[in-house]
Formats: sequence, C-alpha cells, structure tokens
Amino acid sequence: MKREVLLYLKNNPHEYVSGEQLSTLFGVSRTAIWKVINELKREGYIIESSSKKGYRLSPDSDVLNSFEISEELKTKVLGRNIIYFDQIDSTNNYAKRIALEGCEEGTLIVADCQTSGRGRLGRDWNSANKKGIWMSLVLRPDIPFEEVQMLTLAASVAVVQALYEVAEIKAGIKWPNDIIINGKKVCGILVEMNMEIESINFLVLGIGVNVNQQKEDFSEELSDKATSLKMHLEELGIQKILKRTQLIAAILLKFEAIYDKVKCGDFGYIISEWKKHSVTLGREVSIIYKDRQYRGIAQDITKDGKLIVKCEDGTVKEVFSGEVSV
Ligand code: BTN
Repeated sequence: MKREVLLYLKNNPHEYVSGEQLSTLFGVSRTAIWKVINELKREGYIIESSSKKGYRLSPDSDVLNSFEISEELKTKVLGRNIIYFDQIDSTNNYAKRIALEGCEEGTLIVADCQTSGRGRLGRDWNSANKKGIWMSLVLRPDIPFEEVQMLTLAASVAVVQALYEVAEIKAGIKWPNDIIINGKKVCGILVEMNMEIESINFLVLGIGVNVNQQKEDFSEELSDKATSLKMHLEELGIQKILKRTQLIAAILLKFEAIYDKVKCGDFGYIISEWKKHSVTLGREVSIIYKDRQYRGIAQDITKDGKLIVKCEDGTVKEVFSGEVSV
C-alpha cells in the first residue's frame, strides 16, 4: 500500500489530502495511513503534514530508490534492471560480482552512499550519503578491446549533455573523462573490464557525480579541486533543487543513444562532441610514452580516441588515457 499512497500523493502534487480521504480510498485505518506516511518520511520523502488539511508531497524530495529511478527512466535497455543500496562498499565492485554471475546487459547499480568508493589510478572516491550519484552500469558490448576507449569518452559526453539538459550547466571534459566546471572536478568515470583472450566479457561503467555537497563536505585537499552541481548553481545565484533520479535518467538516456553508436563502430559524433566540450585540447599535458615522460601540447584526438600530443622535443605522439596527466 505504501507505493499506492505515494503514487496518489505524487499525482496530486498541489493539494493536501486528508488522512481520512486516504483511509477511505485505501480501505485502511487512519493510523495505518499515518504509519505509511512516517515510513515514507523515513525514506526521505518530504511530506508536509497539517492537522487540519492533511498531507502533501513536496516536489523538492530527492529520494533515490529503484522505484523513483524507474519512474523517470526513458531508456530501452540501460537501467531496466535496477539494484539500489542505501549503502555499499562500491557500486563498481558489486557490479563486477553480479556481472560474473551473468546479470543482464544494462543492469544499473545505484547507492546513496559508498563506504569504499574507488577512483581511477587506485584513488579513493568520496561518496558521502545522499550527496551525489554513485552508480555503475554492466555493459556487454561486442566490440574489440581497442574500442573500449571510445566508451569512456562516450560516457563523459553523455554526462556533459545530461547536465546541460537538466540544469543548463555548461561543463567541460578534461582528458580522458573527468567532468569539470570552472576548473574543478564535478564527476569522475571509472571503466573496468573483464576479458577473455580475444573478446570482452563485460565492462563496468562507474559514474560518480557530486551533486549536493557544500564546500565543507570536501576535505582540505579536495576543496580546491572538486565542486558539486549545487555549489556551482549557488555561485551563479540559482537556487535549484536537483533531483538525482532526474539526472540519472538523463545520463542513461544520453548514454544509451551514444552507446548504440559505439556498438556500430560509428565514432564520428562522439569524437566531435568530445572535442566540442574538451578543456584539454590546446593545453599542456604530461605523458608517459614507452616508459619515458614527455611534456607537450594536446593537439587533437584520433578517430579511435587517442590523444595526439606535440611534445617539447618536436615529436608527435598518440597516447591512451592511462598515459596522460594534465
Ligand atoms: C575518477 O575520476 O577517479 C573516477 C571516479 C569514479 C567514481 C564512481 S562512483 C560509482 C562507481 N563506484 C566506484 O567505486 N567508483 C565509481
């Protein structure tokens, strides 16, 4: 009955509904309704209660669970199977475990909080409770290993497009797939792979987006380097409640369209969108090439997603993501 009460409140967003109305509607006592309302409040729904008028669901509720996500989702495959945790070590870890057990393509793991969130290059990823989007997708594309790079670029393009669509936020992409706003990181992407000799078994695409943090939520070390969508909007004087479910649905929808292109080997759109949003091209980078370090200017990316760097010694080198720092 909890879901039915919730749906009823959702479908009547502007009016108060009395406990009596709800109890008649659902054929249960007013105490039972009161209990359901309290349960929903515990789950994070903001329900305004007035002894005279009854209950009203605030449109500002930012609740994350499978039900809320699937209500928003418009994808065909991605996120059609959702596994939600209020807390987990890492959604990528969980995704890898169930991928090994054979879960279906597009399975989405989402958590309100990660206790051991992981970033690229063995770093930790700060994943505080309800402060951001911590999610992983299990993908089983039939593509050669060399094209995996394109998927990571595709994911960053999808995030940038989704941020603009949902909140008109203009973000940039720092090589290879950090999402940046005014020089500070707002989203990171971690792609992990399981391979047979010749082919990819599965990929886990982990996406972490800082949504609700305030400056004090970041450690001293991070506060110069990281930001959140909320902080950015506040700096612009915009008081907008961002709903994580809406952002998730937008990211998945954008990504699904681009993912279909990757699976067909159609990379033109991804490359051009990546370049359009890149904050790396034209900038100085440091690369590792055949075990040696070089500095140079990032000039372009190749058709298969490698960064082209003109080094200080005049040579031009093409490198993959792990070999570059900006
Ligand atoms: C990075 O920029 O270093 C990548 C960060 C990736 C973080 C996400 S949050 C969801 C998923 N689970 C993890 O443990 N990591 C990724």
